[in-house]
Amino acid sequence: MDDIVLQIGDTIGKLHDGGVIHGDLTTSNMLWRSGTNQLVLIDFGLSFMSTHLEDKAVDLYVLE
Ligand SMILES: Nc1ncnc2c1ncn2[C@@H]1O[C@H](COP(=O)(O)OP(=O)(O)O)[C@@H](O)[C@H]1O
Ligand SMILES: [Mg+2]
Repeated sequence: MDDIVLQIGDTIGKLHDGGVIHGDLTTSNMLWRSGTNQLVLIDFGLSFMSTHLEDKAVDLYVLE
C-alpha cells in the first residue's frame, strides 16, 4: 500500500506541475500495472489545462 499511495501522490504532482487537471480523479481511474508495479492514470475525458491552485485543489478534493 505504501508504494501505491506514494505513486498516487507523485503522479498527481507531476500532472499538476505540468498544468494538467485530471477532472475525474478517483481510484476507478487508476490502474496498477502488476508486472512493473506502476500506477497508470486513465480517463482524461474531463481533463483540462490550468495553473490555478484552486483547480488542482478540486482534483484532490474529488479524490478524497
Ligand atoms: N486499459 C484498461 N485496462 C483495464 N481496465 C480498464 C482499462 N481502461 C478502462 N478500464 C476499466 O474500465 C473502466 C471504465 O473506463 P474509463 O476509461 O474510466 O471510462 P468511464 O468514462 O466510463 O469511467 C475503468 O474504471 C476500468 O475499470
Ligand atoms: Mg473512469
